[in-house]
Amino acid sequence: MRPYEIIKKKRDGQALSAQEITSFLGGYTRGEIPDYQMAALTMAVFFKGLSAPELAAWTGAMLRSGEVLDLSDIPGVKVDKHSTGGVGDKVSLALAPMAAACGVKVPMISGRGLGHTGGTLDKLESIPGFRVDLGIPVYRELIAGVGACLIGQTATLAPTDKKLYALRDVTATVDCIPLIASSIMSKKLAEGIDALVLDVKVGSGAFMKTREDARTLARTMVGIGREMGKKVVALLTDMEQPLGRAIGNALEVQEAVAILKGKAPADLTECTMALTAEMLVLAKVAPGRAEARARLERCVADGSALKKLAEIARAQGGDPRFVEDESVLPKARNVRPILSLTEGYVAGIETEAMGLAAVALGAGREKVDSLIDPAVGFILERKVGERVQ
Ligand code: URA
Repeated sequence: MRPYEIIKKKRDGQALSAQEITSFLGGYTRGEIPDYQMAALTMAVFFKGLSAPELAAWTGAMLRSGEVLDLSDIPGVKVDKHSTGGVGDKVSLALAPMAAACGVKVPMISGRGLGHTGGTLDKLESIPGFRVDLGIPVYRELIAGVGACLIGQTATLAPTDKKLYALRDVTATVDCIPLIASSIMSKKLAEGIDALVLDVKVGSGAFMKTREDARTLARTMVGIGREMGKKVVALLTDMEQPLGRAIGNALEVQEAVAILKGKAPADLTECTMALTAEMLVLAKVAPGRAEARARLERCVADGSALKKLAEIARAQGGDPRFVEDESVLPKARNVRPILSLTEGYVAGIETEAMGLAAVALGAGREKVDSLIDPAVGFILERKVGERVQ
């Protein structure tokens, strides 16, 4: 079938066959199908959706467009965590060392900031010397030896997603559940995992603004993962306000260190503990959530999680002293308080606006080639429910 007929079929609400989907996405990746036809097909998907078999074929085609890593020669269960994105979300920076300190192997291919949301890679790069472009051989070596490695997407993993994501970004087709689910899961399934914990953010600072949409996205991604033989669980977590109090790359690294010292804000600690506990259960290093939580609390109390973070940083070229001495991290030259003009209680926070304000300060990118300033950001001295005087 010609690309024109495939677009028309989807536009008219008919289901596409696996062969039609595979040939269309393959043609697009090879440059045989132009952007305008792919944009038309994704817009048709936006309005008509994808059935479960279509979604499986779509994700499979994206996954097989590049290298699918096999880490089965590395002993242990390989478990990653993926967040759908939020403001102040520095969970991965503490979760990876905590899980690794408890014996889980953590292969983590992370992203950069997207829109108003921050990205793990940008946060890691605020640690002097830290490299996220290590390549697959070093990635394998560090997962086996250190227990965790956090790098960026390579050109060989899910290349269709890379090309298609850029197109969706400029054609108003990002916020489409089957397209988000296949985009995330194709990348995660390519990185060599046995199991995955999904953190689906919901609220004013998330891509999913309602619980209903977040639940649908979570179920869709869990379904794709299980269909591919992986163990997948999803938690819906709150993004009605920023997570913790720090927004901005180096500030967030400091707050991630605080999690590992048992001194982080309660919401951030709870979110990190809950997600990491799921990883321990999936990896079978703990029989249930309660045992997993106890084990995580021990690895914070005895300092082994913090030591693991320093070890990961050193292995990836970073200066490990930042875990004890925050002056190693970039510091903003000007720091000033922004005071409330009225007294009372904080009733809500416009989380997306906070994320955009951080981007405007230089914590994220306005354009693809914008330079990040790792030092800038905000500390929220008051959050929802707290008194302002
Ligand atoms: N993150 C992704 O990786 N893909 C999407 O489509 C949306 C968020």
